Amino acid sequence: MKIYQQTAELLRKQILDQQLRPGDPLPSIRELSTRLNIGRNSVIHAYMLLEDEQLIEPRPRSGYYVRARPLSPNTSARPEPRRVELGATALEIIGAAQNARLVPLGSADPEAHGSAREYFYRRLSRHARDAASTSSGNSHYVAPPGLHDLRAQLARRFNSTLVQAGADDIVITNGAQEAITLALLALARPGDTLAVESPCYYGTLQCIEALGMRALEIPSHPQHGMDMEALSEALTCWPVKAILTNPSFSNPTGACSPVADRQALLRLAAEHDLPIIEDDVFGELYHQGSRPAPIKAFDTQGRVLLCSSLSKTLDSDIRIGWIMPGRYFEQVNYLKYVTTLASPGILQRAGADFLADNRYERHLRQVRRRYQARLGLLLEAIYQYWPAAAVPLTPKGGFLCWVELPIGFDGDQLYRDAQQAGIGITPGSLFASDMRFSHCIRLNYSTFEATPYYLQAIKTLGELIRRQLSTPLPGEPSGHY
Ligand SMILES: Cc1ncc(COP(=O)(O)O)c(C=O)c1O
Repeated sequence: MKIYQQTAELLRKQILDQQLRPGDPLPSIRELSTRLNIGRNSVIHAYMLLEDEQLIEPRPRSGYYVRARPLSPNTSARPEPRRVELGATALEIIGAAQNARLVPLGSADPEAHGSAREYFYRRLSRHARDAASTSSGNSHYVAPPGLHDLRAQLARRFNSTLVQAGADDIVITNGAQEAITLALLALARPGDTLAVESPCYYGTLQCIEALGMRALEIPSHPQHGMDMEALSEALTCWPVKAILTNPSFSNPTGACSPVADRQALLRLAAEHDLPIIEDDVFGELYHQGSRPAPIKAFDTQGRVLLCSSLSKTLDSDIRIGWIMPGRYFEQVNYLKYVTTLASPGILQRAGADFLADNRYERHLRQVRRRYQARLGLLLEAIYQYWPAAAVPLTPKGGFLCWVELPIGFDGDQLYRDAQQAGIGITPGSLFASDMRFSHCIRLNYSTFEATPYYLQAIKTLGELIRRQLSTPLPGEPSGHY
């Protein structure tokens, strides 16, 4: 056993024996290396190992702490296909984002800021002026697959992410949501089963619900995404039509699956002859390092349908999305025509101009840094104002933070209490077909700052959480945690 493994084993034992208790700080790297007379690198490696095992967690500028408890769904049942019935709460949350009186920690919208965004809207108004001054002949649709110039610009960007693409491989859609819907319509019928990760973005679950399909919810690791072993086992038990995954900074946990898992997923899909719907809306929003190569980059058989949009990187109101459907191009293109005929040409023209300019790359570089910094500020505020029983994940990309509370905690109640207090959050119950994540919540930190406005909101949420934790459950004499 190497020194770092021995060190990890020592600490693991102390944590499991409760000598180190949930919420306890671990010694600093310097302190432990002096105390054990070992190199600092060995301590760092040991801490990384324990972090991977979910036993400890780093806190910004404060060191490592023992986690409150391993991340766990509210059930240990093996996955089986289920009907989805999520109801209208999700629509309420998206609607609430328009309510300027709510602190915006709920709906998954990016910040609306910056010169790149302004540039997009300037190009749009230019095209609107051109359209207004052209008054001869007929108007016309920009028929699917959509404006060639926009598709060519997207293909150029795809090529820089290791995905080989030409303009003719892409269909323009109204956001990624339409791309996912078209993929599902092309691949499955009512009653069919789709494998999804769990927790899963509720928009995907609701699409499955609306199309009368079933979700097979595969457990997902908070850092590494869909569990390949669980998926492999489930595929041998259930007749699945497609695998739907959000592998790069998933909504809600921010998990990012390693390259080896992406390749394993493709092997599994090939073994069972299945398509993969890859939702890549957060792929560009890595906080550090480089962009994770989409699964599509490893796909030599055209079985991946990659869906994305400008909604998370630029502005969710722009509604420019796309799908690269591989061998399913004809079906998807035809379905785009049948369902919405075309996407607005004026948006596509502005989108093509926008992507031809290098402002977007600059914008992405800036926004990645800002989201990383804001995550740090949010986590600091949570550690300061919330009880240790609330365990936030530390995503490596995107702008969403998943927080787990003790099993039995009612995230829906917190959602309602927060609304009353003027704060938007998203309850965890929306991210599964049953109540397995009802003890969790999701926060959006895309605009979070350490200002009185946001800090007061986090403080209030902390008080609401404490109040609920100290309220006895029915039939219990005192607080249940
Ligand atoms: C993971 C994920 N996929 C797709 C969408 C839908 O994106 P769009 O606004 O491009 O339709 C969202 C929106 O929140 C999302 O979080």
